[in-house]
Amino acid sequence: MVAKWAPETWRGKPAKQLPDYPNDAAVAAAEAELRKFPPLVFAGEARRLKAALAGVAAGKSFLLQGGDCAESFADFSANNIRDMFRVLLQMAVVLTYGAACPVVKVGRMAGQFAKPRSSSMEKRNGQELPSYRGDIVNGMEFTAEARLPDPQRQVRAYNQSAATLNLLRAFAQGGYADLHKVHSWTLGFVDKSPAGERFRELADRIAESLAFMEACGLTAETAPQIRETEFFTSHEALLLGYEQALTRVDSTTGDWYDCSAHMLWIGDRTRQIDGAHVEFLRGVKNPLGLKCGPSLAHDELLKLIDALNPANEPGRLTLITRMGADQVETKLPALIRAVQREGRKVVWACDPMHGNTTEASTGYKTRAFDRILKEVRGFFAVHMAEGSYAGGVHFEMTGQDVTECIGGAQAIDELTLATRYNTQCDPRLNASQAIELAFLIAEQLKRERFGMAQRLAATS
Ligand code: PEP
Ligand code: CO
Repeated sequence: MVAKWAPETWRGKPAKQLPDYPNDAAVAAAEAELRKFPPLVFAGEARRLKAALAGVAAGKSFLLQGGDCAESFADFSANNIRDMFRVLLQMAVVLTYGAACPVVKVGRMAGQFAKPRSSSMEKRNGQELPSYRGDIVNGMEFTAEARLPDPQRQVRAYNQSAATLNLLRAFAQGGYADLHKVHSWTLGFVDKSPAGERFRELADRIAESLAFMEACGLTAETAPQIRETEFFTSHEALLLGYEQALTRVDSTTGDWYDCSAHMLWIGDRTRQIDGAHVEFLRGVKNPLGLKCGPSLAHDELLKLIDALNPANEPGRLTLITRMGADQVETKLPALIRAVQREGRKVVWACDPMHGNTTEASTGYKTRAFDRILKEVRGFFAVHMAEGSYAGGVHFEMTGQDVTECIGGAQAIDELTLATRYNTQCDPRLNASQAIELAFLIAEQLKRERFGMAQRLAATS
């Protein structure tokens, strides 16, 4: 028998990674305030994303999910939002054109604030303070005052998410994403990089195709797909009090939706089958992600799938594997085989970031472009060998010219890291590295889809 679910049933379960707030009444007051605020997304939009992801599960399209490791209050600006949106759009165009495949675009944006940490305390020069858990919880500065969790930060995060989402909707539907503008999407610094050059060539070809289509009568006026795009938001559903406060009944279906984002995912550290995070997310109808790290056993995965997607609804669950470049080929096959054996419909996406974090000799946390690419290649190869569909990628990235990941055509090395190392948390790909990667993934995807088409032709 499945236990009854309500938005608060998670409170009776063990919860990892939640902050230790000093004042319960202040937390309750912030949550009460949030409960009165309008939802950030509409349930119907979450259903649209679920339908789009069902298309990915069926091998018809590809998921591109990306954005900041952690959004911050300090870096909140129209330019940052535009640059992130723009680079995601560029990557999507590279994939769509390069692999002739529709791309479902999901940002780690407009709500990606809460961070799980490997240790709840941080020690520096003999002083021990609570770890930084994202701007929605506490401040990054290493002082007792900043590190004290403050529930009013949730209200600020909500407001920043609302403003971010507002701008994203305007960009997606207000003309910025019009394919006729493809040339103008190139950022100043990307323009001068090798990825920028490749992108310009692609933009020329797209412009030619558009001119041809226009001659055939297909214009931005007659085909809205040319003029606008659909863009969805997502974040890790970590801070459950905040998520609960934004969970509402959809008046058109009577179902519960977490209206803080279209898609929510469960982190690798909070995926315990009897834990609070799985309990909370099993009850909301949004599309869900589940991070699958190397410690996840295949029978445990099946139990999690049972809990999160008991009706085996395609598009409901995306398994985001993050094994690391060295483990993807040994750990992923068992998970794929278990899912296939049990006939579970899922989207498989690859997060090549979180299993490939290292420390540079200069002390910076970094990730090597080559290792990231190696995990993506391994992911495609394993799926190909298992006859399963590699359906998406998940990146930590930014539209800015940062120097946080080493390698790529710009050849960022360990010494360069210090120049513009701006992340709140984990090292991100910069815009140039992200586009370069998109070109390399488009090749993999093209090969995968060609193989699929051949298999289909052979069996029909
Ligand atoms: C993340 O996506 O930022 C994250 C913490 O990932 P994971 O849960 O896979 O470690
Ligand atoms: Co991260």
